[in-house]
Amino acid sequence: MKHNQMPPGSYGLPILGETLAFLFDKNFIEKRYRRYGSIFKTHLIGRPTVVMVGSKAVEFVLSSHMENFSWREGWPDTFKALLGESLFLQDGEEHRRNRRLMMPALHGPALTNYVSTMEEITRKYLQKWEAKQEFTWFDEFKQLTFDIASQLLLGASPGEDCAILSKLFTTLTNGLITINPLPLPFTKYGKAIAARNQILERLTQIVRQRQQNPSKDALSLLIQAKDEDGNSLSEKELIAQAVLLLFAGHETTTSMLTWLCLELARHPKVYQRAREEQLQLASQGDLTLEQLGQMPYLEQILLEVERCHQPVNGGFRGVIKDFEFNGFHVPAGWQLLYSILMTHRLEEIYLEPERFDPDRFSPQRQEHKKYPFSLIGFGGGPRVCIGIAFAKMEMKIIAAHLLRSYHWEILPNQSLDALLVPTNRPQDGLRVKFQPL
Ligand code: HEM
Repeated sequence: MKHNQMPPGSYGLPILGETLAFLFDKNFIEKRYRRYGSIFKTHLIGRPTVVMVGSKAVEFVLSSHMENFSWREGWPDTFKALLGESLFLQDGEEHRRNRRLMMPALHGPALTNYVSTMEEITRKYLQKWEAKQEFTWFDEFKQLTFDIASQLLLGASPGEDCAILSKLFTTLTNGLITINPLPLPFTKYGKAIAARNQILERLTQIVRQRQQNPSKDALSLLIQAKDEDGNSLSEKELIAQAVLLLFAGHETTTSMLTWLCLELARHPKVYQRAREEQLQLASQGDLTLEQLGQMPYLEQILLEVERCHQPVNGGFRGVIKDFEFNGFHVPAGWQLLYSILMTHRLEEIYLEPERFDPDRFSPQRQEHKKYPFSLIGFGGGPRVCIGIAFAKMEMKIIAAHLLRSYHWEILPNQSLDALLVPTNRPQDGLRVKFQPL
């Protein structure tokens, strides 16, 4: 009966559509999901858009019908200009080749080599925080994760250059989603374009240095990587992928680490249990790769932080082939948004979804295993986040050190409300009092 029927929903205002509500109303998707269900239409960033919510819908987009969708056609033009010809915006054969070339730099033995550097940089920051005693964790994590990303992904040495690059990336990120994509010197987008140009200049120098003196960093591995026909990435491709890895590699991790520390401070029993797990391991010796695999409770906590505070709220796609879902028809040419945020809050998947409860991931409960594609903070399917193992290892190392030796309290007079754009964070960045134990 519903054949060829368009999904329910409203396009909003002419031209603007519902973009303003989408950017500024935190409950934009929830309100429409409650009214229309797991597929509805709207109009965002200049295009008719279908929003899809829930495990079945997400499996459809990320896996079973992924050939109907394009990444390149999905993300707003600002992304294309700012993130260039990188994996994030590639499709088909080009994407497959590049992903295969990039995988070894972020998995397996390469990752094992990264542990000691991650620890070394973390220790430096712990000392700095001990001396400072009070600070804003979002800002500090941003520097820490950027230092880790630039050393391990680019082979850059820490110092002033890293700090400048980190600031340039913040400016770039602020221009990704904007209602005013005019490249003027005073708009966020204009500033982001200028930052990108400076980033490209610096990365060109770094790529050239690394071509001459390869080391153990991801960029050196990428320079040496060859596809089945013996071809490697061109200099232009290498630079584009390096920009993407640095961008994707630190903003998201910063967001999750900040929320992790906030939830640990808010839930003393969770903090205590996680600390006991760490002290038990610490009694057997210093942190090792093997120990990183023996922290089931910390893993549960990280899954719950991923669920409650997804750093990425959803993913855009371009519809390149008409499709039907739940009896509704969506034509090619539309934009699609799958919602990570709302899928993580569905009562049909998670018991009391608003509650922070790491035990929902205990071996007995495993709420995310009831349906596939229920926990999708890193996306899913063949194009799941390529940095998932890198990010999880980094977060565990930092969390393990914090839990073994430190305690922190949330300072008064600050807003802890979630700010979702450009990256999910507590509004004032989480100001804390930090003490060794
Ligand atoms: C907590 C940390 C992270 C989170 C939550 C996260 C989240 C995500 C998500 C949700 C996607 C899929 C987006 C979509 O379906 O549209 C994705 C893709 C991607 N991520 Fe991550 N990410 C994290 C860390 C990293 C790191 C450390 C790197 C690199 C070192 C990275 C590189 C990428 C890349 C290159 C893609 C595109 C993969 C492809 O299309 O084949 N991410 N990430």
